[in-house]
Amino acid sequence: MSLKDRVYFCPSCKDPLTIVYDDRELKERAEVGFHGKGVWRYASFLPFKGDEEKISLNEGDTPLHVSVNIFRELKLSFLAFKNEGLNPTASFKDRGMTVATTRAKQIGSKVVACASTGNTAASCAAYASRANMLCAVVVPEGQIAFGKLAQSIAHGAKIIKVKGNFDDALETLLKLCEENEKIYLMNSVNPFRLEGQKTVGFEIWEQMGRKMPDWISIPVGNAGNITALWKGIKELKGTKLADKVPRLLGVQAEGASPIADAFHKGLDVIRPIESPTTIATAIRIGKPASWRRALKAVRESRGYMVKVSDEEIVEAQKVLARKEGIFVEPASASSLAGLKKALDLGVIEKGSSVVAILTGHGLKDPEAAQRLSYEEVSVKPDPPELAKVLRI
Ligand code: F0G
Repeated sequence: MSLKDRVYFCPSCKDPLTIVYDDRELKERAEVGFHGKGVWRYASFLPFKGDEEKISLNEGDTPLHVSVNIFRELKLSFLAFKNEGLNPTASFKDRGMTVATTRAKQIGSKVVACASTGNTAASCAAYASRANMLCAVVVPEGQIAFGKLAQSIAHGAKIIKVKGNFDDALETLLKLCEENEKIYLMNSVNPFRLEGQKTVGFEIWEQMGRKMPDWISIPVGNAGNITALWKGIKELKGTKLADKVPRLLGVQAEGASPIADAFHKGLDVIRPIESPTTIATAIRIGKPASWRRALKAVRESRGYMVKVSDEEIVEAQKVLARKEGIFVEPASASSLAGLKKALDLGVIEKGSSVVAILTGHGLKDPEAAQRLSYEEVSVKPDPPELAKVLRI
């Protein structure tokens, strides 16, 4: 079917729409190559002609930190962290938001909206400000981290708190968008979001010297990001730019793991979780919109899904911050927690090369940092007393 302005789901299978390029088109796109920086470096693989106004905050180009300490303990030949927390609004969402907001501008939208556990909202609000659009963010009341809410406040979004969880917020907004033509939906069911988000795979491949790792570990919530990552990887492989594809390790929190559960039961449908729970509020999602595409991605890649407990997430957050110098929010740390689990299970072999995607910055959720063990003492403003507590 053709891509209409405000159609997000396939009328027959009800899945979110995906933008598909045929083989000939992909080949032509690959011949154009990659130019410039960030997400728009990969414009030849994005669904635009090139003459539209780009709404950008210089997203993408995030560092791939090669592990200096953890990789040894995990007995990996190579481990690197793709630090998506260093995007303009401090999460991976900006990759998709630059593309979707550019599309919103192209079709003349004045109002954009999203349901969110916080990061999509922050990103949507920032890009809407830049594009002179009104932005409404629909969030689960009392369930989003304050750093993220602060961003939506700062960017002047209309903040609507739903008495319910993320799934309730998304369902409510989707129903409204079916009836109201004015709102352009910025959730990852908008296919333009995934086009931007797929560029993380392109960047990893380029940063590794045009090579793919054996595995990529990625947190899974609403499941847009893993779907996008796999789409990008397949496009690179389809054009023969990449010579191999990595296996995907999808990581969910134990209390919010419908996709991991379906994977382990060998099912082709998920059983939604009515009241998802986890300290990783970003991925506290029980009815992921892109579950079918995520399951397919993991299976096609010969990958695996793991579930991690809140304790394992907190431990991974601590290890990343204290052994690699990278401060991430809990959902992001789940990619390391999941990697550890997959190694323990023998799913990922020792000696493998792995990239773990860290999706959001630690400052997003300052309260979560207080769960980490730490030492704190108060002193009078007195040097000897300071020396005493420092034991030097
Ligand atoms: N990590 C972080 C930090 C996130 O904010 C999200 C999703 C994910 C991982 C999972 O990505 O949903 O594409 O599978 N956050 C959404 C939001 C739901 O509203 O900010 P996903």
